[in-house]
Amino acid sequence: MTLSRAFAALVIAWFADLGCIQAVTLEVNEGNSTCIKTELSATFSITYNTSSSTRTVQVSLPNSTTVDARSSSCGTAGSTSWLVAVFGSGHAMGLSFSTNGSLYSVANLTLQYNLSDTSIFPEANRSDVVTVVSPSVGIWATINTTYRCASPSTFRVDEAAVTFSDMRLEAYMPGNELSPTESICAADQASTTAPPTTAGTTTTAAPAPTPPGTPERGTYTVNNSNGTECLLAQMGLQLNVSYFSLSQNKTIQELVNLTPNLTRSSGSCEASRASLVLTQEGGTTLNFTFTLNSTSNKYHLSEITLFANWSDATAPFSFTNTSLDYLQSTLGRSYMCNAEQTLVVVPTFSLNTFKLQVQPFEVTTNQFATAEECQMDQDQMLIPIIVGAALAGLVLIVLIAYLIGRKRSHAGYQTI
Ligand SMILES: *[C@@H]1O[C@H](CO)[C@@H](O)[C@H](O)[C@H]1NC(C)=O
Ligand SMILES: *[C@@H]1O[C@H](CO)[C@@H](O)[C@H](O)[C@H]1NC(C)=O
Ligand SMILES: *[C@@H]1O[C@H](CO)[C@@H](O)[C@H](O)[C@H]1NC(C)=O
Ligand SMILES: *[C@@H]1O[C@H](CO)[C@@H](O)[C@H](O)[C@H]1NC(C)=O
Ligand SMILES: *[C@@H]1O[C@H](CO)[C@@H](O)[C@H](O)[C@H]1NC(C)=O
Ligand SMILES: *[C@@H]1O[C@H](CO)[C@@H](O)[C@H](O)[C@H]1NC(C)=O
Ligand SMILES: *[C@@H]1O[C@H](CO)[C@@H](O)[C@H](O)[C@H]1NC(C)=O
Ligand SMILES: *[C@@H]1O[C@H](CO)[C@@H](O)[C@H](O)[C@H]1NC(C)=O
Ligand SMILES: *[C@@H]1O[C@H](CO)[C@@H](O)[C@H](O)[C@H]1NC(C)=O
Ligand SMILES: *[C@@H]1O[C@H](CO)[C@@H](O)[C@H](O)[C@H]1NC(C)=O
Ligand SMILES: *[C@@H]1O[C@H](CO)[C@@H](O)[C@H](O)[C@H]1NC(C)=O
Ligand SMILES: *[C@@H]1O[C@H](CO)[C@@H](O)[C@H](O)[C@H]1NC(C)=O
Repeated sequence: MTLSRAFAALVIAWFADLGCIQAVTLEVNEGNSTCIKTELSATFSITYNTSSSTRTVQVSLPNSTTVDARSSSCGTAGSTSWLVAVFGSGHAMGLSFSTNGSLYSVANLTLQYNLSDTSIFPEANRSDVVTVVSPSVGIWATINTTYRCASPSTFRVDEAAVTFSDMRLEAYMPGNELSPTESICAADQASTTAPPTTAGTTTTAAPAPTPPGTPERGTYTVNNSNGTECLLAQMGLQLNVSYFSLSQNKTIQELVNLTPNLTRSSGSCEASRASLVLTQEGGTTLNFTFTLNSTSNKYHLSEITLFANWSDATAPFSFTNTSLDYLQSTLGRSYMCNAEQTLVVVPTFSLNTFKLQVQPFEVTTNQFATAEECQMDQDQMLIPIIVGAALAGLVLIVLIAYLIGRKRSHAGYQTI
């Protein structure tokens, strides 16, 4: 590798026309000439494990990002053209380029993050530096032109997702400045030529601004390989989720109902583990895992994962907790809770359930077995009993009072 006298520069650019969204400028130089230059905003959504759960954090490429001159290269003398940006405590993003003489493209996108950086990854149960690579990122342009993409574009890189926006980029540059001729990405072309909403007959769930009402109850099943139903669920589901909304330009907390008509169910049934995966049109996937303790013959809901790829969010995001203990019941029974229940998954995501009945194990004849009801339902059943008992007591008191009164008045007549 020729790591000659490459040097790096960093400029912070402010785009007034984009409402002052901060962009970072990075360039790779060799001698007096610039070979790779980019202006971009990038956010990373990274999933990592703590000892008890899985978390997802959002990190933005900070304005203190610099180009690592030692690993970056202009690709002369047969080596790969390679931009490596470093930030924070041992984090890095790399873009490698290739060209065939008429086009150039990003050959791969590398993300490196240091799990010992507790300011970004609190409570991570690993402390190593993780490197993930995404081959074939769809970024390409004609040589001697600048690739331009204002629209956010997201690339999944293993356990992470990278979202670029307001991006201008050129590699194999003929001069030291970005070429004035631009290759516009498909997303920008689509957004300028097509009206933003060309919705046909189906309107996919765009998160509503007003709080939705009680969600509709859906019936979801999972089938065995031989086609018999092995997991049954009936419930209304409502997500209570915080995320960064593009349309509102801030982090919002929102209630989103699942619409049974737009939701497919799938999953798997094993001896001591059963999963139900609900996929709703518009990029919402909810994954439930039930675990059976074969010693105690009790089962419970042990994991919930939400994966959301919403057009209004800056990047796809997910929330997981793999050490939950909800909906406990006994093997051979179903679990029922008519009252609204809130299942907290992580601080930024909880799931509200309505009129719920599930049976993840030992389903026979495609029907729910006898239900064990949640405490809230039992408490609600107690209310009529208590009221009834109180009324009965009242009636008794009135009756006794009447009888006593009658006796007294009889006694009164006799003395007269
Ligand atoms: C988004 O919000 C930030 C801070 O609240 C503001 O500075 C910026 O101008 C807003 N951007 C857009 C595109 O509205
Ligand atoms: C770089 O520029 C300086 C002056 O601008 C010039 O003297 C020098 O020869 C150049 N070096 C190369 C490698 O072009
Ligand atoms: C978290 O742990 C699970 C279970 O061990 C593993 O499958 C997953 O790959 C881990 N995720 C990360 C980001 O390390
Ligand atoms: C980290 O936690 C995950 C589960 O959250 C577990 O599967 C994994 O083995 C743990 N890794 C280490 C190194 O402890
Ligand atoms: C990772 O982060 C820790 C803590 O911030 C730091 O001490 C360490 O040097 C970093 N590792 C690398 C490779 O930069
Ligand atoms: C990504 O590109 C870099 C630089 O060209 C290269 O060193 C690395 O092997 C590539 N990784 C993959 C998985 O292609
Ligand atoms: C470069 O690749 C593009 C797309 O694969 C192709 O259309 C073009 O002919 C290639 N150019 C050369 C010089 O090979
Ligand atoms: C790109 O620009 C350089 C310098 O202006 C020129 O030598 C080269 O032929 C151009 N390449 C193409 C494919 O137009
Ligand atoms: C399961 O099988 C039943 C028929 O036995 C079918 O109606 C249902 O659609 C199947 N469910 C799934 C999720 O494949
Ligand atoms: C279907 O398969 C399950 C196990 O996978 C088995 O318990 C059940 O008896 C099978 N049912 C039929 C009708 O074959
Ligand atoms: C769901 O579909 C059924 C039949 O396809 C229809 O009767 C019902 O109105 C639909 N519900 C909603 C909320 O779209
Ligand atoms: C299963 O239940 C038994 C008895 O309640 C308990 O001691 C054991 O820890 C449980 N096992 C697991 C894996 O939770």
